[in-house]
Amino acid sequence: MLKLESFAGIRAVVTGASSGIGELLARRLAREGAHVALVARRKAELERVAASMANGGGRVLVVPADVARRDEVFAAAQRILGEFGGVELLVNNAGYGGHRRFIDWDIDDIERIMQVNYFGTVYWTKALLPKMLEQRRGWIVIMASVAGKLGVPDETAYAATKFAQVGLAEALSYEVEDFGVHLLTVCPGAVDTPFFDEQARQRMPDVAKRLMIPPQRVVDATIRALRTGKREITVPPFIRVSYIVRALAPGVLRRHTKRLALPATS
Ligand SMILES: NC(=O)c1ccc[n+]([C@@H]2O[C@H](COP(=O)([O-])OP(=O)(O)OC[C@H]3O[C@@H](n4cnc5c(N)ncnc54)[C@H](OP(=O)(O)O)[C@@H]3O)[C@@H](O)[C@H]2O)c1
Repeated sequence: MLKLESFAGIRAVVTGASSGIGELLARRLAREGAHVALVARRKAELERVAASMANGGGRVLVVPADVARRDEVFAAAQRILGEFGGVELLVNNAGYGGHRRFIDWDIDDIERIMQVNYFGTVYWTKALLPKMLEQRRGWIVIMASVAGKLGVPDETAYAATKFAQVGLAEALSYEVEDFGVHLLTVCPGAVDTPFFDEQARQRMPDVAKRLMIPPQRVVDATIRALRTGKREITVPPFIRVSYIVRALAPGVLRRHTKRLALPATS
């Protein structure tokens, strides 16, 4: 277990830093004194974030890239390694969702969402892990989801990408933790960010609307988990009860999910 107790001077990459959880996490890291590379597709949004970031003494780099494009990721990683000389912290956060029945989900988008959420994580991890192993020091955060632990209706294609991320993180952590690289998987429930467009909000079951948390809670929990060397967290933590219920009484969880998690409209 490797604790990241101080962020001062840490060289960090945050993907999906132009909005939501990634933006807030990047701001927090910069405030704590980290050097931060901001990655996303929208350069103007990254520049907005960079321009308004409180400076805790570290450098800020704006690195526009589509995480689904392997060539762009490796070029961006090379640029960051060139500028920073190394990287200690990679936050694989870029991603998007979708809420519809599998039967209605366009197959091109099922491929695309896997490319962004899962392969984006694979490309960034492949690009930066060798340097972390060489340094014998690194932390990789995978922003997965409760949808990577529990399959719920209306999230089939998205859940598959998140289950893939969770599996990758768990398996990889065994391979690298004795060589100084720590994996942290973060599984948020519903978080109030632009991830949910108006249509998704209308479709959202009432229980999910009620339980929605602000993105700052995910950021605070992630920072705390890095400081204490946790390997996996769920935010808010009470959702973990569902994992236990599924293991011990799967029928109970199925009935509960059918009753509460089917979309308001279909
Ligand atoms: N909100 C939730 O309820 C929730 C719950 C569990 C897990 N999560 C996970 O948390 C992560 C962040 O989501 P969020 O809620 O903060 O959503 P968000 O506000 O929509 O932010 C998504 C970020 O990902 C970036 N992104 C999307 N596609 C990209 C691509 N192809 N290449 C590079 N960057 C890309 C976006 O930037 P550009 O558009 O500029 O590229 C944006 O910065 C996601 O992985 C999501 O699955 C969210």
